[in-house]
Amino acid sequence: MSIRSDSAPPASVDGATLMSVRDLSVVYRVGNRLVRALSNVSFDVMPGRALALIGESGSGKSTLGSALTRLLPRTAEITSGSITFNGKEGRVQLLDLSSEELRRFRWRDCAVVSQMAMNAFNPVMTIQDHFEDTAAAHGLRDKAKIHDKAYELMETVHLDAKRVLPSYPHQLSGGMRQRVLIALSLLLSPELVILDEPTTALDALSQRAIIKLLRRLRQQLGLTMIFISHDLSLAAELADDVATMYAGQIVEYTDVFSLFDKPKHPYSVGLIGAIPDLSADGASLVSIPGSPPDLVSLPSGCRFHPRCPLSDDKCERELPLLVETEPGQKVACFHWKDAQTLKGSDAFEGRNS
Ligand SMILES: Nc1ncnc2c1ncn2[C@@H]1O[C@H](COP(=O)(O)OP(=O)(O)OP(=O)(O)O)[C@@H](O)[C@H]1O
Ligand SMILES: [Mg+2]
Repeated sequence: MSIRSDSAPPASVDGATLMSVRDLSVVYRVGNRLVRALSNVSFDVMPGRALALIGESGSGKSTLGSALTRLLPRTAEITSGSITFNGKEGRVQLLDLSSEELRRFRWRDCAVVSQMAMNAFNPVMTIQDHFEDTAAAHGLRDKAKIHDKAYELMETVHLDAKRVLPSYPHQLSGGMRQRVLIALSLLLSPELVILDEPTTALDALSQRAIIKLLRRLRQQLGLTMIFISHDLSLAAELADDVATMYAGQIVEYTDVFSLFDKPKHPYSVGLIGAIPDLSADGASLVSIPGSPPDLVSLPSGCRFHPRCPLSDDKCERELPLLVETEPGQKVACFHWKDAQTLKGSDAFEGRNS
């Protein structure tokens, strides 16, 4: 895995943020049980930067991505927090918007490419119809202009416009649909694009093309992006900053180089140690033992303590807060200084069964 060398310069912590999330909590109600999918999440997204949300399945990445544009299902409830968007139209408090204001906010200011590309399409509409429909919903009705823009965006995502625009969604592969969604998300030139598992549905070559494309789009359009991914190599290639999520919380937030060079949270150390290295024989690959906690009944103290090689009594009792260790770097661990001495491959070895 390689980390590119052209990431944006380090974030100015005092500079204007594009999006500020404070103390955001989300629960899902399942029968009479509460699934605590997000707990007191706070972070900033700086303009022009790319933030990756990483973490195991169920850590709350998609819930966070959906909450940021209030696209959560009906069973979900935002129980605390604020989301401020500081875009070209001025400052907006997302939790105060009416449904009409939210509809305008999505696509124009902030577009989401969902994890479920299939579900986002209407099966009885062609891809061209989707472009026209989205444009019409935002007051753009010049069909020739929309067609030209759709054509251009198809080329940008390496799809054959002549073939794809008149097609119905079921006539395209999952990978092609994902690329159409990326193109569609750019139709109204949003300032922020949230991409949930943008390359998961694609074969390796298409993945490379999409990564290259997204990097080019960022440079050309000055887009700010949030990527959600299981795949740390995607974070390494695309992100400037990385937020590591565990059991509904951000446990580390740092620039991508610091994360891979000196991860400060034992969980980040474990995630990096679990990346397959094609050049190695696999012997050094160590998974994190155990599994994430049940979000209905969370452990006391640090949520990672039952799996952590550094945990002690304090970790069992007290929840560590996300604190700044140096400008632009935050970690929620009492033992982050010791975590830096852990090596991904042997940190969890004694705990692997
Ligand atoms: N509609 C829902 N109803 C109830 N619980 C849900 C719902 N959607 C998600 N959850 C639960 O919320 C938690 C967070 O889920 P989420 O989908 O945000 O995780 P994720 O990090 O995106 O996982 P993945 O990597 O598998 O996509 C999980 O425990 C999940 O089971
Ligand atoms: Mg998800």
